[in-house]
Amino acid sequence: MNKADLYLGDCYKLLPTLIKKGIKVDLILTDPPYEFHTQGGYTGAFAKRSDNKRLAIENLSKSFDFKIFKLFKEICPSQNYLIWCSNKQISRLMSYFEKQNLNVTLLVWYKPNSMPLGNWAYISDLEFCVFVRGQKAHWNNKLPANMKSKHFTCGVNFSEVRYHPTQKPIAIMDRLINLHSFKDDTILDCFMGSGSTGVSAVKNGRNFIGIEQNEKYYEIAQQRINAENNQTRLFV
Ligand SMILES: C[S@@+](CC[C@H](N)C(=O)[O-])C[C@H]1O[C@@H](n2cnc3c(N)ncnc32)[C@H](O)[C@@H]1O
Repeated sequence: MNKADLYLGDCYKLLPTLIKKGIKVDLILTDPPYEFHTQGGYTGAFAKRSDNKRLAIENLSKSFDFKIFKLFKEICPSQNYLIWCSNKQISRLMSYFEKQNLNVTLLVWYKPNSMPLGNWAYISDLEFCVFVRGQKAHWNNKLPANMKSKHFTCGVNFSEVRYHPTQKPIAIMDRLINLHSFKDDTILDCFMGSGSTGVSAVKNGRNFIGIEQNEKYYEIAQQRINAENNQTRLFV
């Protein structure tokens, strides 16, 4: 039975404590707070609705600071990271890691049934994940070639109960976890939200460490992960 340790609190404060305890992980799969362009010349009712949703998400969590990556390197020495991000964050994230001579790849989730946001704008039908690969990063080479594609297709109304505005589909998390880690590895998500990474980790025979500062989402994550695994320990 794999373990899931769930921490309620601020990851900028909790990660140094875990590092001091000597905890190490094999993969960091996380979905930090997003940045959006909220004024882009888009017009129409869809654009307004979309901007309201973006603002709600921004208000949820505004504190993503790249200083966290120093802590990532300490807790995950193989520098095996999958970081979900918005369009606006891609270039900064990729160049930050490229400057450190790490191998960096952009992965894309295509949502075929997305609605248009308004006039004069592309449909918002893509989400992005930056993969950072250090030399010792785990990689499950035995998986078939179609599991190594850089894009995933999954409808925007994926068939799961919605708990979080930026919730990720378990099917995509399963695919990432199976390719980028081995059985019994430990996976960290320090911006856990409703716990999608944790659900997929324990379901696929990995250990999990999750951190979430919002009490409501922490409790949801706990319930979702518990439903997969009764070896969950809570740190509040
Ligand atoms: C983009 S959401 C993650 C959603 C997640 N992928 C899911 O499927 O539910 C980011 C989460 O990070 C949390 N968060 C933001 N800053 C944080 C911090 N400093 N420490 C811990 N959690 C934080 C927010 O409360 C939010 O739930």
